[in-house]
Parts: sequence; C-alpha cells; structure tokens
Amino acid sequence: MSTSKPGLEKSVTSGAGIRQAFLKFYEAKGHQILPSASLVPEDPTVLLTIAGMLPFKPIFLGQRKAPVDRATTSQKCIRTNDIENVGRTARHHTFFEMLGNFSFGDYFKEKAVAWAWELSTQVFKLDPKNLVVSVFREDDDAYAIWRDQIGVPEQRIIRMDEKDNFWTSGPTGPCGPCSEIYYDFHPELGDDNIDLEDDTRFIEFYNLVFMQYNKDADGNLTPLQAQNIDTGLGLERMAQILQKKPNNYETDLIFPIIQTAADIAGIDYFAVDESKKVSLKVIGDHVRSVAHMISDGITASNVGRGYILRRLIRRVVRHGRLLGIEGAFVNQVAESAIALCETAYPELRERESMIKAELDREETQFLKTLERGEKLLAEILERKPKQISGEEAFKLYDTFGFPLELTQEIAEENDLTVDVAGFETAMEAQRERAKSAHETIDLLAQGSLSQLGIDSTDFLGYTDVTSQSTVKAILANGETVETAEAGTDVQLVLDQTPFYAESGGQIGDRGYLAGDTLVVRIEDVQKDNNLFIHIGRVERGTLSIGDSVSAQIDRACRRRSQANHSATHLLQAALKKLVDDGISQAGSLVSFDRLRFDFNSPRALTPAEVQQVEAQVNTWIAEAHSAQVEVMPIADAKAKGATAMFGEKYGNEVRVVDFPGVSMELCGGTHVGNTAEIGVFKIIAESGIAAGVRRIEAVAGPVVLEYLNVRDQIVKDLGERFKAKPEELVERIINLQTELKTSQKTVDGLKSELALLKSDQLLDQAQTMGDFQVLVANMGEVDADSLKTVAERLLQKLGEGAVVLGSIPAEGKVSLVAAFSKAAMDKGLKAGQFIGGIAKITGGGGGGRPNFAQAGGRDASKLPGALDAAKEQLWSALG
Ligand code: ALA
Repeated sequence: MSTSKPGLEKSVTSGAGIRQAFLKFYEAKGHQILPSASLVPEDPTVLLTIAGMLPFKPIFLGQRKAPVDRATTSQKCIRTNDIENVGRTARHHTFFEMLGNFSFGDYFKEKAVAWAWELSTQVFKLDPKNLVVSVFREDDDAYAIWRDQIGVPEQRIIRMDEKDNFWTSGPTGPCGPCSEIYYDFHPELGDDNIDLEDDTRFIEFYNLVFMQYNKDADGNLTPLQAQNIDTGLGLERMAQILQKKPNNYETDLIFPIIQTAADIAGIDYFAVDESKKVSLKVIGDHVRSVAHMISDGITASNVGRGYILRRLIRRVVRHGRLLGIEGAFVNQVAESAIALCETAYPELRERESMIKAELDREETQFLKTLERGEKLLAEILERKPKQISGEEAFKLYDTFGFPLELTQEIAEENDLTVDVAGFETAMEAQRERAKSAHETIDLLAQGSLSQLGIDSTDFLGYTDVTSQSTVKAILANGETVETAEAGTDVQLVLDQTPFYAESGGQIGDRGYLAGDTLVVRIEDVQKDNNLFIHIGRVERGTLSIGDSVSAQIDRACRRRSQANHSATHLLQAALKKLVDDGISQAGSLVSFDRLRFDFNSPRALTPAEVQQVEAQVNTWIAEAHSAQVEVMPIADAKAKGATAMFGEKYGNEVRVVDFPGVSMELCGGTHVGNTAEIGVFKIIAESGIAAGVRRIEAVAGPVVLEYLNVRDQIVKDLGERFKAKPEELVERIINLQTELKTSQKTVDGLKSELALLKSDQLLDQAQTMGDFQVLVANMGEVDADSLKTVAERLLQKLGEGAVVLGSIPAEGKVSLVAAFSKAAMDKGLKAGQFIGGIAKITGGGGGGRPNFAQAGGRDASKLPGALDAAKEQLWSALG
C-alpha cells in the first residue's frame, strides 16, 4: 500500500496537523483510531497516565482481549518525575501528547520500523541525513532491519544499553527492547563520536517498543503470550522540529498560553531574561496539565494525584508572582489553554466551569498562604537585618512556598541580600533528615503504601460505629515504626474500620482507638486507593503493630456529617425541581458543622428562589422519607434515573442512596436513615465562585440552632449598643450613617482649609535650584485630596518649578503627590514616573500624568527618606 499523504503536506507543521497526519497515516495502515483515555488510569500502580500504552496494559498482559489487532491514538499523558527540569531544558514537560501505533500480537519489528521511517521521511519529510537511530545492545534483529531494509548507515545506528533501550511501563509490567529515532540538528558535525545524550544536537522523537516480556517484582522476565508493538512519538517534539523552534514551548501547542501569561505580566517573552522565560515556560506547561487533570475529574488534595494537581497549581501561582503578577490570574491563563486545546479535547470546554472553579479555589487558598509568608517577610524586614538568614529564607520556602528567587528579589528591593549558602545548608539538612530516616515512606508518593504489604481496609462504617480492629501499620514522622508512645502524632492503618475516610465531599470521621491502657485520638481519616489512613495522636499508653484495638467513631460528629450529607442530596433535588432541572453538581463539602454545594448555573438564584429551595428541603425533612441504600450495576442505577456526578469515575457496581420520590444519587457517603433525622435545614449564603458556578452554603441539624443562637446574640448586642429594638435597628443604622456622612464632609472641608493655611507657611521652605523654585515637604496628617489641592496651589504660587508633598493620612498609609511646571518638564521630569519611584521607597507605587501625579505607600517610617530622595533627584534634574 502506498503512503497516505494526500493533502497532508500543506499544514503538517502545525501541532494539529501533525496529530492528524500521524493518526491518518496509521489508519491507512489498518489501525483503528481510538480516542485518548483519561489521565486517571485504570491501572492502580500508577497515579496518572504516563504513556500511550497504559490503557492497553491489560491487553499486553493477556488479561483482556484486544478489540482490534492494530490501534493508533493520541494519548494525553502527564509525567512529573522531572518537574524541576520543566522550563529549564528545551523539552521537559509535565503534560504532553504521545502519538502511538500499537500492534496486539499482529505485526512486529519489521513493519514497525518500516512505517516509522516512512512516516518520518515521507509524511513529515525529515531528511534521512538528519536522522539517527538507536537499538538495544543485544537486538541484532532490529540492527539488521535498520541497516539492510531501511538503509541507515552503520555509523548512524547506535547500540545502547538496558538503561536507555529497554522500556518498562513501571517497576513491573509489560516491557521489551526498544529502538528510537533521533533528530540531528547538526548533521554537519559528522558521524564520528555521535553522543545521543547531547541534547543540544539530538532530540529523540519516536520510541518503538518491542513488547514481549512481563517483568515481575524481582526483575524476572517471562515472555508475553504474543509479540506486540507499542510506540510513542512526542507530539510537542515533532512540532519543535517541524516548526523549527529552539524548544517545545515556542511551538503552537504551548506558546499562545505563554503569550497570555506574558501579557498579564506586561512583559515580552523574547525580551526578558532567562529566569523570567523559565517562569513563563513553567506556566505554559503546567496550565495545560492542570486544565486536563481537572477535566478528568481530579481535584486538589493532599494525597495522590490530588496532591500532584495542587503542587502544579501552586507552582503556576508562584511563577506568576516571580513575573510580578499580583492577585489571581490562573483562570485567565487557563482560558487560553482551554481555547488552544478544545478542538482536540472538547471536554475541556464542556467542563470549563468545573476547571475554573477548582483553579480559583486553589489559587485563592494558596495566595493566602503566600500572604502569610509575606507578613513574615515584612516582620523580618522590620527588624532591619543586614541580611535575610538562610534559615529564614528556608522557612519561607518550606512553610510558605516562597521560592528562593522570590525572597531574593524582595530582599534586593530592600537593599538586602539573602544568605544563599545558609539556605542551601538548611535545605541539605532537611534532605539528610529525610534520608537518614530509617525507612521513609511518603504517604503521598505514588505506590508508597504498597510497600506496607497491605491491600485494603474493610470499611464497616455503613452499619457499625465500633469495631475490633488490628493495627497493621504505624507511621510517625514519615517513618514506619513498630511502636509509638503517648504524645506521638501518628498515621495508622487498620485491617477493618468503622471510620469513614474523606471522599465524595464528606470529611473523615473523628473518634478514638482504645486498648487496655491505650487511647489514640483520631482527628481525620484519608483514603489512598482502598487503604484508610487514620490520622491522630497517641494520648495514653503505647501503640504497637499487631495491637487489637476497639475503634470507635465519635457518634455525635457522625450524626452531624450524615445529616449534612443527606441534606446536600435534598438540596440538589430541590434545586433541580424548583430552579433548573439541568443543574449539575460541580463539587461539595460535607463537614460536621456545615455543608457546601457547588453547581453549574449560568445565573444567580433570586432571594425568592433561595427561600423556596430552603422551604422545599424542610418540607421533605418533615415528611420523614426513609433512605433505601442499594448496591447495583451502574447501568441499572442509570436506568432508574439516579443522579451521578459529572466527570466522576464510577466502578461497575455503584451504591445508590435513594429517598424514594425525592432524591436518588450515586454516593459512597454515610446518610441518615430517615430525612426526619436531619431536623432542620438553613441556607446561609448563595454566591458565585467562578463563571457559571454557584455555591450554596448551608447548615443542617443541631448546627442550625447554634447558628441561630449566634445570630440572635449579635442582634441583641447591636440592640444594646444602638439602644433600639431588633425591628428598629435597620432604620437606626441608616440614620446614623447619614449623620456620619454629613460630619465627614464637614471634617474634610475643615481639613483642606487647614491644609491650605499650612501651605502658605510652607512657601518659605521653597528652595532655588538653578532657574527653578522647588518645594519638597511633609504635610503630616493631611488626606490625599487636600494634598492634591495644596500641591496645585503651591506650584501656582512658585511659578516655574516643582512641588513634591507627602503625608500620612492614616496609620500605615502614605500619600504622595508631585506637580511639575512646563519648564521643569522640559528638563525631562515626568511627574508620573517620578512619584512612582519615590512611592516605591515607602513600599507602594502609583503614577499619573507628566505634569501631575499621585501615589501611595505603606511604610510611614520611610516617608522622610523618600522625600530626601525626591529632593536629591530634583536637584540633579534642575540644579
Ligand atoms: N511506551 C513507550 C514510551 O513511553 C513508547 O516511550
């Protein structure tokens, strides 16, 4: 068969063109084009889809029958093992697309090699002079195919060892020798001493894996039932080659995102220094990752893939800060990523509101942490040290997520340095601590729990509130330990437990483990695959592996969380019934003291709707509907009309929580037996959290009473303070506000009169600089508006010259103003620029027109110094 390239030549350099050309080429060779699988793999041994072959692993292993003999895909992948290299090298990514052609026991080496060559040289039109191939050292067959059938010169077929040319999908699993095709950017350097590791000259773009073994945990290889082909061609790398870009980031697959970030930061990617470029590249890369991850149902958390997501989002925020972006910006960049990817991955646009809500939530939270770090930094600066110590810089890094570069930059602005060596020492010390820990297990790291040799915890909590359990593993300070004494914070795994682990929005149970002399308080429970990790503290006695303990949940807390959880279901049903049947859940939180329900809706609810929804839920509560919980095949649940959360992954068997006639949802949470147990339900707030996403916050059960009591107390306190009955309060406050406004106006008037009076005295302080009259003065407590009036008036009186005034209108606030006459401006002075620079000294900024500008600052103690600096600058410009 001839190659399938009609119509491809034209656009084959664009990312979309390359993807299309690859898939069409292999379709013409009898491959079925299959859609990309989710980034969340079925395979429990990896957290994320790391290669195109992953969805086919059970087929290679002979556990599942192949639906076709030949398939081709463009698979979205994420790898985070080289995250520190992202942006620093030309080709490291977290998110990338792997184009693959697969043979399930059908064709093998010869065809795989021949087609890969044909595709590279005839479709992508790469000159064979630019191509080098590698083979596994012992794979004489592959060597011979390249040399004799394809005609690659021997010097350009490189034998490589196991490390490079034997591919396995993980520590165990299907594997085989591989053969790679490299692009040579500098063929003029000749064929002697070819070093494929030299990435300034070579880039590997296509890996052909001859899958024929299964590797077990001891490293033994057993032949698979069939010989298979698994390949991967890096879409971004091919784009770099064909678009003749110096790196993957500048290709059309990523650059538009970088451009958006650069626009927000107000910088030009091509003009900035290398470190800013790195930040832009990190943002360009990570934003694609996080958009796709959330779209595939991952939410940020402290475990597993949720943690990877959180880490990536935080890196985006931090690098944004390094670029000088202040405030939230991630959604703007995410929008450009969605726009860029939506043709190939329409689910991104479909789940846009979910993506943006999650990003917004994470970014806001992290910005708060950063703010706390900034506070710490401000405190350090207040002490006016000569240098920021290594330990302080490390604390900022470790606890508050400040990259060293950011601390350095802020230090520089304050004429300080950072003890970088001390920082490195502190960092190294932490590394050592981690290393020397006997057997360090990071519960967050992929597969670490599997080292414990326990597969799953039996959950008894749907029916039982206590159980007799055996302690299977204990972790203290990140190490597995045999015992833990009173006072130790621990994480532990039991064989069976009544404790609910946080999932589906419902938080983990609290409670106790008790033995004869032992008490362990449990404060939270998290889930990692099927293992429940109980997080708490040994209160009394010694906890040991193998202990038989009585596990008891805090029933009051559980009653509250299940009342809140069932109320969440009723809330969703009421929203669908009364507001819009199309409403779908975008997230939820069910805790002991409140519930939160996020849903997709293009508009806000009216106050009347909020009341109706609340009333409907309370009616259902009063009607006392019993819960029916049943496990059934997902198809049956869907046929019955059960509500499922969009984007959530469900197994074949699902748990259906049904309040017949009211609400039916797929849910793994714990619930009341009857809606009457909820007692009462109260909506506290309805708000928008992102475009198209609304949030309802509510309370249910006994918490409602607590909520009402608190409100009641507030009203009572206000009544006393304003000497009014509750029903008179509003009018009373409105009256007071009006009075206050009138008084404020009078005060403002007096203040500016006073300022003007003062200003006349200031005229004496004017200095002559060359042909100009210059006045720089501190006006004390004058407000910004008066400062402006005074400056204008003084300049009028002085004639040609400059007036720069500062004041401290309120604590922690500095006001500055500059007014320049025409002749002063002719000397190159620009008021906007000038006052911006002066304001910086007081920890602020601002600007305006060349003749007149205002600015503000934060640090009043710096005002005298700032005014001195203004004087000096005026002197050098005018004197
Ligand atoms: N599975 C192979 C890789 O990821 C093709 O490189």
